[in-house]
Amino acid sequence: MYDQTLFRDPEVFEFDYVPEHLHHRDAEVRELAYLARPGMRGGSPRNAVIRGLPGTGKTTTVLKLFAEIEETTKRLVPVYVNCQHNRTKFSVFARIFEKLAGHMPPSSGTPLSDLMRKTAGLMEKRGCVLLVCLDDANYLHYEDDLNDLLYNLLRLHETYAGIRTGVYAIVSDMSLDLCNEVDTRVFSVFHPTEVTFLPYSKEGTREILAGRVRQGLFPNVMPGTALDFITDLTYQEGDIRAGIEIIRLATENAERDARRTVTRRDVMAATRHAVSPTLQSKVAHLKGGERELLHHIADLKATGEQEMTSGAVFGAVCEDIGIGYTTFYGRLRRFEAGGFLDLPLRTRKGRTREIIFRYDPGKVVEACRQVPEHSQKDKMFEQQDIS
Ligand SMILES: Nc1ncnc2c1ncn2[C@@H]1O[C@H](COP(=O)(O)OP(=O)(O)OP(=O)(O)O)[C@@H](O)[C@H]1O
Ligand SMILES: [Mg+2]
Repeated sequence: MYDQTLFRDPEVFEFDYVPEHLHHRDAEVRELAYLARPGMRGGSPRNAVIRGLPGTGKTTTVLKLFAEIEETTKRLVPVYVNCQHNRTKFSVFARIFEKLAGHMPPSSGTPLSDLMRKTAGLMEKRGCVLLVCLDDANYLHYEDDLNDLLYNLLRLHETYAGIRTGVYAIVSDMSLDLCNEVDTRVFSVFHPTEVTFLPYSKEGTREILAGRVRQGLFPNVMPGTALDFITDLTYQEGDIRAGIEIIRLATENAERDARRTVTRRDVMAATRHAVSPTLQSKVAHLKGGERELLHHIADLKATGEQEMTSGAVFGAVCEDIGIGYTTFYGRLRRFEAGGFLDLPLRTRKGRTREIIFRYDPGKVVEACRQVPEHSQKDKMFEQQDIS
């Protein structure tokens, strides 16, 4: 039995897998489709800010809707941009250009204004309207590029007559109120509708996980009682990804023991080994230098002997990592924006910040260890930000 697999389709448990069926998000899909609709008739799509905790289906919902729009019309072109990978105005416009042109823009020396002109030219030629989804837009916010980007996108029509664009901005950082953060020149054209993704109920969570089991495992591999147990754990965590990862690990466990069904014990073993999938994916999206620093800081915290204030930690890591305080502090703020840690101000000792991890630092270290190096394409765009 050792060569027998319990997985009907292992792809179903990959991070970027888009499920066949989207459960329990009909209202949100309807609302977003309603906002996009003017674009299908050649008008401007309405803007939206999509808010919700990690793993509540925001990305999946938009990807499903965008796929449907693409099947229905050529008039409205939806462009999905992952802002964890594309953190500057230039790289976001490069993604938009790529979508319209079918190839990447020239890789060096193109100023942003040229790229915008070419993008507008392509839209004019095709007579299409643009709907851009900025997923995890808080990363751009942190880089201070969000205001300029929204300004450039939503006021494109002022420079290029007849051009129409709409923006959906997704944020999972619930402490960030994007509508209040944009500056006045953007505010006058943005006016987003807020679409909130509430956490799934326990029944909803079970249905989504059961759908994944049906698609990814052979029949009867996952007994109802084991799935109930996984549902409880996932519901507590609030992130569907946790459940998907536990299903995968528990099934691998059963497979290793040459059994045909998953047991409660497999599930318990899986939870012990599972690094939160949200944490894993967040760490994977950090740039190499950022990840190295996070790894160091988490290591210091895990050993338990280090005073965890910004100044003291800088003193402990600066030689190993070879960065100055400004870069160090910039990265700390990025970790805060990414939800890895909090930086409350400690005023008793001057203005120093305390570093408090939101995750178990041991798991952060583990997650940093597991990540492969960034792809060449990302590196190229990092170097290309000459806007
Ligand atoms: N309603 C749903 N039906 C089926 N699968 C879902 C649903 N909601 C979430 N999932 C699955 O859960 C995982 C997380 O969903 P998704 O990436 O869309 O969450 P998110 O809200 O964008 O999270 P984050 O804020 O961390 O980016 C994905 O694997 C997705 O396929
Ligand atoms: Mg997402």
